[in-house]
Amino acid sequence: MDNRAIGVFDSGLGGLTAVRRMHEIMPEESIIYFGDTGRVPYGTRGRDTIIKYTLQDINFLMQYDLKAIVVACNTASAAALDTVRGECPVPVFGTVEPSCDKARSVTKNGRIGVIGTAATVRSGVFERSLCGAEPALHVRTLACPLFVPLVENGRVQRGDIVIETVVREYLQPMRDAGVDTLILGCTHYPLLRDVIADFMGGGVTLVDSGAEAANAVRRAVAPAADGAGKTRYFVSDDPAGFSQLASLFLQEDVSGPAGLVDISAY
Ligand code: DGL
Repeated sequence: MDNRAIGVFDSGLGGLTAVRRMHEIMPEESIIYFGDTGRVPYGTRGRDTIIKYTLQDINFLMQYDLKAIVVACNTASAAALDTVRGECPVPVFGTVEPSCDKARSVTKNGRIGVIGTAATVRSGVFERSLCGAEPALHVRTLACPLFVPLVENGRVQRGDIVIETVVREYLQPMRDAGVDTLILGCTHYPLLRDVIADFMGGGVTLVDSGAEAANAVRRAVAPAADGAGKTRYFVSDDPAGFSQLASLFLQEDVSGPAGLVDISAY
């Protein structure tokens, strides 16, 4: 048993898709969540900036007594995981490896698509991870830069003409490529699951990178004692806006306001 909390962070709200899965499969765990809402998006930034932000996010979380950290952001995982793993005193879990493991286990035709932010796609980390383990795979990656701002604005529902148009525009090449597995390689994208699934069709399995990171933590860390864990939320800007949208991501009510953090001080 280990009752210490698990730290989770993302550039904004996307990492809450990992928290949602953690609440489902490990309700006894206490979680400290940080969303860098003052600096979102990370996906349009250069590697050095993403590494700097990631180290600050981890420095903030490490003030608490933690047993693990989840980088619930593919952009930060792609750019900074190797660097931060070397510097952090507790185990650090990213989104990329668990998502690739899952995709390899479900694909039947060996054609895997990956969608993510510009920085994630530019890094080439998904191709390296997927093909490094299985060189015969066909991997098609695609940046979808408009998805994050649309999700952060709550434009996620079926029937919303804006998101449906953008999904069609971006994902047509993925459909043409004949992938049978699509990694949602950004933790914001599971909010678009319905719209993406409608467009890609029933034969395509969607892999949720936030949920896969949560599954990996579940397998690896010593669990807390039985009983309900507590989740505390912190952001770097607009705590009221965060609390409103957070319930959409979590599919549960977020009680109480999020704490405000001056992340530049870390
Ligand atoms: N949720 C983050 C990810 O998984 C990215 C959003 C951003 O661009 O900041 O990649």
